[in-house]
Formats: sequence, structure tokens, C-alpha cells
Amino acid sequence: MEERPKNTFYITTPIYYVNDIPHIGHAYTTIITDAITRFKKLAGYDVFFLTGTDEHGQKVEKSSQEKGLTPIELADKMVIRFQELWKALNISYDYFIRTTQPIHEKGVQKIFQKLKDKGDIYKGTYKGYYCISDENFLPEDVPLEKEGHKICPDCGKECSLVSEECYFFKLSAYQDRLLDFYVQHPEFVRPHTRMNEVVSFVKQGLKDLSITRTTVKWAIQVPDDPEHTIYVWFDALNNYLTAIGYDWNLELYEKFWPADVHFIGKDILRFHAIFWPAFLMASGFPLPKIIFGHGWWLKDDTKMSKSKGNVLDPHVILKAFGPDPLRYFLLREIPIGLDGNFSHEGFLHRINSDLANDLGNLVQRTLTMIFNYFGGRIDSMGEEQTEDEALRLAFDTLKSRVIDHYEKYNLNKALEEIWGYLNKVNKYLATHEPWIIAKDITQRERLGRILYQAAAALRAICPLIFPVMPESMEKIWTLLGEENSIEDTRLSQFDYKDFRITSNILKPDPLFPRVKLEDFLKEKDTGIPPIQKEDKMEQITFDEFKKMDLRVGEILKVEHVEGTKKLLKIDVNIGTETRQMVAGIADTYSPDDLIGKKIVVIVNLKPAVIRGIESQAMLLAAEVSGKAIVPFFLKDVPAGSKVR
Ligand code: ME8
Ligand code: MG
Repeated sequence: MEERPKNTFYITTPIYYVNDIPHIGHAYTTIITDAITRFKKLAGYDVFFLTGTDEHGQKVEKSSQEKGLTPIELADKMVIRFQELWKALNISYDYFIRTTQPIHEKGVQKIFQKLKDKGDIYKGTYKGYYCISDENFLPEDVPLEKEGHKICPDCGKECSLVSEECYFFKLSAYQDRLLDFYVQHPEFVRPHTRMNEVVSFVKQGLKDLSITRTTVKWAIQVPDDPEHTIYVWFDALNNYLTAIGYDWNLELYEKFWPADVHFIGKDILRFHAIFWPAFLMASGFPLPKIIFGHGWWLKDDTKMSKSKGNVLDPHVILKAFGPDPLRYFLLREIPIGLDGNFSHEGFLHRINSDLANDLGNLVQRTLTMIFNYFGGRIDSMGEEQTEDEALRLAFDTLKSRVIDHYEKYNLNKALEEIWGYLNKVNKYLATHEPWIIAKDITQRERLGRILYQAAAALRAICPLIFPVMPESMEKIWTLLGEENSIEDTRLSQFDYKDFRITSNILKPDPLFPRVKLEDFLKEKDTGIPPIQKEDKMEQITFDEFKKMDLRVGEILKVEHVEGTKKLLKIDVNIGTETRQMVAGIADTYSPDDLIGKKIVVIVNLKPAVIRGIESQAMLLAAEVSGKAIVPFFLKDVPAGSKVR
């Protein structure tokens, strides 16, 4: 096997299940991966960044049934949600793999066949417990909860017994080779502390792994044995190969395989650090270099997860702040291996202090002064003094340290160092008080130097922050007179002193406006509808439609129905008479909103008794997130007019 080109870099996220919409946890892994991709590109690498969706298996099958969709309908809807979120977060992936794509399905079948031919896959019977939520066969030693039921030790869900004919992968045969491999490659599992967990799991003894099912239909078929379908993890893990050209683009495959790093959450470390290398050893592929299992974002001290329903919707934050503050917060707040608690208070605090104050104000002040005192171009400046030099030299140190942190995936440390430097720049301005010097005309050259120094420092940190906040850094870069994108810069080449004194500074607008907690918490509605079954109703004829007597009704009187929160009793004039009706709209409208309004009512619906009140008509309303929104008329219409 030829060595892969040295300057290429292959980085992946997990492929996410399409059982539900993405949340902050998925955003986290993908943002980490994007920041590292952007860093590697600035460092001169040819990077391939893969993400995608894991679409087969029982979990997705079950979720689609609950939503009244077919699995592929659900997958198609969810893929759009993931891709929209990645776009909103500025994720620069090179390829989005879906496991329902033919290139992937064929590749997986081919690898399965290869292992079967080789004798690493054999037929048998599996009897044991299966966790649908984790798509995981439970170890035998998990105690029985009650007859036929066990509780998944990882996610706490109930698991039921599976007993079926299946194909096994000879995982046990790879136990010693895996242990050897871990010894030879101590960098394989990161953070290093997680290596112990992996090694001790393998040392406890590996059993052969069931890799097919007969009761799951939504899956890739086993070649030449249509009763059996391939286990979703055997399917999913191989995406890292099929996406990079295995079996369809040799040139791409040879350029990038083996992967440099698979970023994942610690929840799926065993699949990646044990099963995946064993599959690869068996099928003869080189092994990836690093499996990085990051920590979890928790909400109220438990893992945020779709199955638990305690997830935070990134769109709420994106709508208020745009992508960069969220990217910054997630990468700055916790070291990549540890868990973090997400709270809106914590988020706002960090954003207001680090972004609005430390960075935003600094940019604003520096640029405004250059603009006000020099019309946007510093025309002359004095010699560099010792204290000016110190700021410049501190940058050189900073740059090499930050690059080192990025190389080691210590993203929070990289940001911490950069913010330490920003404080130096802030102090430099506070000490030298250019706003005072500006009043003394004889000190113009000194003023020029101080502002040059601060602007040069700001420009120099742009490429260092760019991997984390690409959009804002491009903005600052442009404000400082740069014409090209930061993407065209190379970390090895750019320098503090590259800032040209002749640069034309543009007048800045606030980069990171402050947001108050109350305003932020109020904002729950992102305008993005939940995924649900579309009401595909059968067609009706016009004659059938005509059977409905729809009229304009004028609301005369409204009162709350006692003992209910949602119901209103409404008297409505329908032209010929007044009718009373009961409507569930009290959570959207108060009686005062309604009195005197004209609405549409159906008047020939059979009356119904609701809470003891006869409802003799029904109003029409749109249902939005469980709330009723009533249509009103823009022009006046007489009560009783027919609506068609
Ligand atoms: O496991 N905190 O998909 P999945 C941090 N399809 N990261 C989190 C998180 C949280 N609270 N919740 C989720 C699967 N994640 C499989 C993967 S790969 C071949 C197949 C992130 O939709 C984290 O990266 O359950 C975690 O590993 C992943 O989403 C799980 O996503
Ligand atoms: Mg999961």
C-alpha cells in the first residue's frame, strides 16, 4: 500500500440518525470538525470534511411509523433539516453522505461479502437483548429487570429480547490484535483518559457480534440472502470508506484514506474504537489515526438527547445571534473532552463579556479613532517604542502557541490564549490613551503609531480566530482594509507587520450587539415547523364542498368556559340569527381581541355538546404549533355573507 500524500487531511463527524431533528449536541461535533477543517486549510492542508446521515435501522424505522411516514420520507425531511442547520452554522463540509445512497449500499454489501468469503462472517442464532435507541446488543451481564425486559445501562431505555437467526462477525478473533494495536498506537483514542475505558472493555473479552437482523426491514440487504438485513452499525461505520470513494473513486480514496480523525461523542466510542478497527482489520484496510470522543452537552445535568426530549433548538440562538456566537460559546466554554452544562444565562454572559466587550468594543474603538483622527488612513507614525514592540512580540508568541493548541485540538485553550492577548491590546490602549494624545497636535505621529499598533494586532488575530468565527473575522479583516478572504492566507506566512499603514479603514458597525436575557428567553418560536405527517387528504368534488354552509359571523359576546384554560363561549351573529359556539382559542386570544370581529364559521355542522354547552357552529382557524390562529377579514363584510 502506497503512503497517502502528506498534506492531505481527512476528518469526519458521526453520521447522525434521521429519527429526529438536529440539536445543540449535533451542532457541537459538527462545529468542532468545521473549526479544525478551517484551521487545517489555513495551515496549508488539502482537507476533506465528511458529514452525513445514518438512515437505516430499527430506530429510524420505528420513528417513521410513529410519525406516520415511510422511513425514506422521514429521512428526506430530516436531511433537509440537517443541511439547513449546517448552512446556518457556516459548516464547510466537502461531502454529505446518506447511507441510502447506492454507492454506500453497494460498498457495504461488497465489504460484507468479502468478510463472509474470508470466513470472518458465519451464520448462527442470536439470543439476547437489544436497545433500539442506541442500536446496540446489550452485554449478557446486564441484569434482568423483569421477564423479557432489561434496561439499557447506557441510555436507561427498556430493551426487549431478540431471538433470531443471524450472521456473526468473528469479533473475538480480533481481541489480541486490537490490544496490540492500542499499545502500538497510544494516540488512537483521545482524550487519552478514554483509552483505558476501551482497553479494559476489550480485556474483559470480546464476543462475536451479530451483524444482521431478520426482523428489521429498513436496512441494507445481505447479499444473496434476502431474509437477512445488515446491522445498522456495520452499515453506518463503513460510510467513512464509501464516502471517500471506496469502490467508486480510487483516486479520491487513495488521496484521503485512512482518516486522520473521526470526531464523535463519547456515547459511541466503543463502536468506533473497537468494532470499527476490527472490521477494518478483517477487510484489510488501513486504520484511522485518531478517534476523538468529546464530552456531552448536558441540560439540567443530564445528557441532551432527542430520545429524552430535553434538547435545545440551535435555531433559537441562531435567529437572535447568527452563527458565530454559538460556535464561539460551544468551543470556548469547555475543554473538548469534558461535559458542559448549557444554559441561556451562561451563553449570554460569555457572549456579552468576550464578544461584545473584549473583542467587539476593541474593534469599534480602534477603528472609530482611526476614522475620526485620520479619516480612515493613518498618514504618518513615529518609531516603534519598547512598549509597542512588546505588543508585536507578544503576538509572535501567541501565534505559535495558538497553532500548537489547534494542532492538539485544544480549541478552548487556543481561544483562551487569544483572549488573553486581546486583553493586552485593550490594556495597551488604556495605558497610552490615544484619545488624550489626539488633543495635542504635536503628538500626531505618536497617535499614529499607537493606533497602527492596535489595528495591526487586531488584523493579526483574525486568521487565528477565523476557524471558530469565520463570518465575523472576515468582516473585521475587510474593515481593516484587506481585499482577499482570510481563506487565502497561510498561517505560516502572515505576520503582524503585514498591516499596511496605507490601509483604508472602514467605519465599523457594532459586530456583536448586546442582547438582554429577557428578550432572548422570550424568543421561542423560530418559525420552523415541526416534522409531522402531511395531511394528504383525499380529493373531494365541488358538490361535496358545496355541502358546507360557510358564513361570515360577527362576534357579539365572549366569555371563558369555567374550569378550562383553552375554551371560550362565543355568541356569533350569522346574519339570520345568533348562535353560540365553543372554541379552543383562549390561549391565543382574549375576549377583548375578539369582540366585534368578523370571522368564518360553518353553520350546518351537527351541534356538539362541549363542557355542557351546546356548540351550534364552528369557527375556522389555522393550527400553528398546537395553537389556533383565527383568520379575520381585511375589508368589512356584512354578517351572514356566504363564504365559498
Ligand atoms: O449515534 N452532547 O447518531 P446520533 C454532545 N448514527 N454531542 C452530542 C450530544 C450531546 N448532548 N448528543 C448528540 C449516532 N451528540 C449514529 C452514529 S457514526 C458511524 C453513526 C453528537 O444521531 C455526538 O457527536 O445519535 C454523538 O456521538 C452524536 O451526536 C450521536 O448522534
Ligand atoms: Mg444517539
